[in-house]
Amino acid sequence: MADSWVDPAEGLGADLHLELSGPGGRRAALTRALREAISGGRLAPGTRLPPYRSLAADLGVARNTVADAYAELVAEGRLTARQGSGTRVAERAEPLEVRGRVSEKAPPRARGPRHDLRQGTPDVSAFPRAAWLASYRRALRRAPHKAFGPGDPAGRIELREALAEYLARARGVRTEPGRIVICSGFAHALRLLFPAVLRGPLAVESYGLAFHRELLTAAGVRTVPLALDEDGAQVGGLAGERAVLLTPAHQFPTGGPLHPVRRAAVVDWARARGGVVLEDDYDGEFRYDRKPVGALQGLDPERVVHLGSVSKSLSPALRLGWMVLPERYVDEVLAVKGAREAWAGVLDQLALADFVGSGSYDRHVRRMRQRYRGRRDRLVGTLAAHAPHVEVTGIAAGLHAVLRLPPGSESSTVEAAVRRGLALDGLAEFRHPEAPEAMTAPDGLVVGYATPSEHAYGAALEALCAALPPP
Ligand SMILES: Cc1ncc(COP(=O)(O)O)c(C=O)c1O
Repeated sequence: MADSWVDPAEGLGADLHLELSGPGGRRAALTRALREAISGGRLAPGTRLPPYRSLAADLGVARNTVADAYAELVAEGRLTARQGSGTRVAERAEPLEVRGRVSEKAPPRARGPRHDLRQGTPDVSAFPRAAWLASYRRALRRAPHKAFGPGDPAGRIELREALAEYLARARGVRTEPGRIVICSGFAHALRLLFPAVLRGPLAVESYGLAFHRELLTAAGVRTVPLALDEDGAQVGGLAGERAVLLTPAHQFPTGGPLHPVRRAAVVDWARARGGVVLEDDYDGEFRYDRKPVGALQGLDPERVVHLGSVSKSLSPALRLGWMVLPERYVDEVLAVKGAREAWAGVLDQLALADFVGSGSYDRHVRRMRQRYRGRRDRLVGTLAAHAPHVEVTGIAAGLHAVLRLPPGSESSTVEAAVRRGLALDGLAEFRHPEAPEAMTAPDGLVVGYATPSEHAYGAALEALCAALPPP
């Protein structure tokens, strides 16, 4: 007998695939199909079934056939029928012992660390839900019909215009919307740039995010470590490469800005060699003690690709980022993206355009800057009181700090932290695997202070102090 997709306009609110087959008449087949859908979990407890009339019409059976099948399942306790609320799957549609067996098979829930001091995630409880919703509503209301057609691979013009204005004003980026390509975050930008647009090896800071190095390696790009010191990357050490990836505003993860002399030097290097600097501006908005460090791109928009995303400022789950490109790369990057936008959803793009354009982004960043500064100050204050022998560095910006440890104590300190329910990383986690001994940083812990909820932060700091080596 026939299969049917049921899409009742009145009530079920979801498609239901029923296969009427097997022995007996249609009523038996329908009863069996519904019973299987309930016991298999395809029809969850509480789900409203279609009215007799529409299910009968969809399946090509008599109304009474549906009524009889429902009645039989009501009698079995699998469905409930109530005046006014229609026929629904019963809250406990399956006998308890079946549920027991299912839950026995379910894997035990993994228990995470008690305190998460890993870098990488902003305070997700502070996502600006109300302001984002307001932007989303406005964006949806104002979107022209054609916004719902295939997307422009450069990204929505509204977003590129808003970002051009914001990045110029807040980060000192020199650009116009035609040089901006929207992508789904920094990692996506790397995938778009390599190896189709930028070929050959890429110099990277000797400490950085392993995920990004691995992504590049998987794309066939060789990464070459560049030494770091307290002034940032030693750009004088650039050798045969034609491209270098830097975190100029806030070296990741050690924490200092690239010295102005080196900023100028790396741009000179790019000009002289026909090379390019990739600027990862992952948390440029979060600077606490000094004047913001402007984007390196401002020194030479034709030699620097500026890359940013909302992962630290709003949420890494939004997957929205931007590339500000030298003119000569725009067409190539768009060619790599293809004829249509395939990553960044139009409503998120339009919502972000509104969020930036309406000033909500500025307000949110200012609010978060204050909150993170408070967290940072609490970290510094707690360490000064309870572990004054531990130096804290990289604290002028960002959402993490580096705690310097006595030589040889890094891995045992990380282990002690884990025993106390803390998740955090030692600096070694970030070291380029090919970095020679001379490039090895002193022992240290990378402490992210954005992730714990406000009420859990004090306990996390206490656990941290208890895990630190004694003076
Ligand atoms: C060093 C660094 N670069 C870039 C990013 C942003 O990556 P994405 O935009 O892919 O989330 C992060 C994480 O937020 C980061 O730690």
